[in-house]
Amino acid sequence: AALPRVFSGIQPTAGSFHLGNYLGALRNWITMQQTHDTFYCVVDLHSITVAKDPAELRSNTRYAAAQLLALGVDPDRSTLFVQSHVPEHTRLSWVLECLMGYGEAARMTQFKDKSSRQEEEHVSVGLFTYPALMAADILLYGTDAVPVGEDQRQHLELSRNLAQRFNSRFGTTFTVPDAHIPTDTARIFDLQDPGSKMSKSIPSGVVELMEDPKRTAKKIRSAVTDNEREIHYDPENKPGISNLLVIHSAMSGRSVADLESAYEGSGYGDLKKDIGQLVVDFATPFQAAVQGYLDDPAELDKILRRGAEHARGVASETVRKAYDRVGF
Ligand code: ADP
Ligand code: NA
Repeated sequence: AALPRVFSGIQPTAGSFHLGNYLGALRNWITMQQTHDTFYCVVDLHSITVAKDPAELRSNTRYAAAQLLALGVDPDRSTLFVQSHVPEHTRLSWVLECLMGYGEAARMTQFKDKSSRQEEEHVSVGLFTYPALMAADILLYGTDAVPVGEDQRQHLELSRNLAQRFNSRFGTTFTVPDAHIPTDTARIFDLQDPGSKMSKSIPSGVVELMEDPKRTAKKIRSAVTDNEREIHYDPENKPGISNLLVIHSAMSGRSVADLESAYEGSGYGDLKKDIGQLVVDFATPFQAAVQGYLDDPAELDKILRRGAEHARGVASETVRKAYDRVGF
């Protein structure tokens, strides 16, 4: 039987992915290659909902692809491609925009958050219609399952509604995707502010996968903890130590309970030193692999072209069917 199909996308970002992206999402991309027919996309169309410098966007997109390959996305197992290389994404998203209610779009909490944060800046219509493009990303590939974190659940629900609405109005065309709650992910908090999720907003609290490993070790050594001495997991009262235990566990494959007993009687410094080493051992070969892809742009282009061709084969068939049903 065919493996269930998965679609997942990630935006190209300035600088590298961070440890939260890796442990919270991308590591699961690699694992899912064993059990699913995986379509992985660098969603550059989504990224221009906020103004981007063209040269930077182009290089960030390639940088993102190089990092995904270096993490273990295998182009022989997965369809890895860049969203803008497959014009069917925008062709389908227009149809879905016309099915999506204005009020429905206005209720998206991510839009409300982002548009209020950008209040003084330009809030684009693209930011508003973003969920229709995301629905197109998913529906184009007959996706069965979408790995989603909490922050994308509402958008996935909208994608499901749009698929059902289209199917009931025009006849069954789209697979209605299910949320896949990944088991192989962890929520990682900021090293300086363990109450907030790790993001690039606090430079000293984020581990970027491409930064100098010495810098990483230093950031981990200076992670905020507490005034006690005990290494045990208690996110409520010991958010810093709990976050470090989760990072250790994710990187070493040992359970948190196992780590708690292993570190009994040890100091926070010992735990931090070991995590620094785990991250360095991971980052060193990863960084070399990324560099390898960046040093061979022809090979990277070839991989992305092959991915886009395969994606396009599937996507164009879906658009052909959908357009026919709509009356085009
Ligand atoms: P998006 O805005 O599309 O969620 P992000 O760059 O914030 O993009 O995140 C990309 C992926 O990494 C998402 O799946 C997100 O849930 C995950 N992620 C981001 N930060 C963290 C974190 N601190 N811990 C766990 N997962 C994270
Ligand atoms: Na985010």
